[in-house]
Amino acid sequence: MSAARPRARVRIETLGPAAAAVLAALHERVFAADTGERWSTGDLYAILRVPGVACLLARAGDAPCGYALLRCAADEAELLSIGVEPAFQSHGIGGQLMAAARAHCARLGVARLFLEVREENIRACRFYRRLGFVEVGRRRDYYRRSCGAREDAITMSLVFASEYSSTTPQ
Ligand SMILES: CC(C)(COP(=O)(O)OP(=O)(O)OC[C@H]1O[C@@H](n2cnc3c(N)ncnc32)[C@H](O)[C@@H]1OP(=O)(O)O)[C@@H](O)C(=O)NCCC(=O)NCCS
Repeated sequence: MSAARPRARVRIETLGPAAAAVLAALHERVFAADTGERWSTGDLYAILRVPGVACLLARAGDAPCGYALLRCAADEAELLSIGVEPAFQSHGIGGQLMAAARAHCARLGVARLFLEVREENIRACRFYRRLGFVEVGRRRDYYRRSCGAREDAITMSLVFASEYSSTTPQ
């Protein structure tokens, strides 16, 4: 049996385009060593200016330690990216970011949240399933790994049915 890990206390704030450099640095610390994936400050500045895009940043003290980036349009939203600094993973920060993302979606009347994940990202797949996401599709060979190999993308979705069903006209 494993001992319970302490849940990290974080503050979650919403970032605007001016914080693109903070987000680029954090994204690199989360992904670059593992996947080689990098998003430049310029790329992220452009993404953060797109209508409906929101970035939620978790801070431990003053230090940025995790983020969730999502795009909402009408009653659907897409989780564009989520990451927690490696040293802070498995302390509940990802779960807190997803709760904040869900609250953000509820404020905007979003009924369904989509995401795509590499099929070999077992940890993230398990994280999403634990939150209630289910697989709804698959894109064959969608991702290219740094070694050149291809990997499927799994599309998952979470329906916020109970939050809206009581207001649905009969
Ligand atoms: C996926 C990711 C965002 C999850 O963030 P996280 O902060 O580690 O998530 P949490 O701590 O909320 O949950 C992770 C696990 O820790 C466990 N956990 C969290 N707090 C715990 C606690 N206090 N005691 C015991 N277990 C705990 C959760 O049950 C969960 O278990 P699981 O791995 O079986 O699902 C993070 O692992 C990450 O950044 N990965 C690299 C980037 C990535 O893959 N992003 C997704 C791309 S699609």
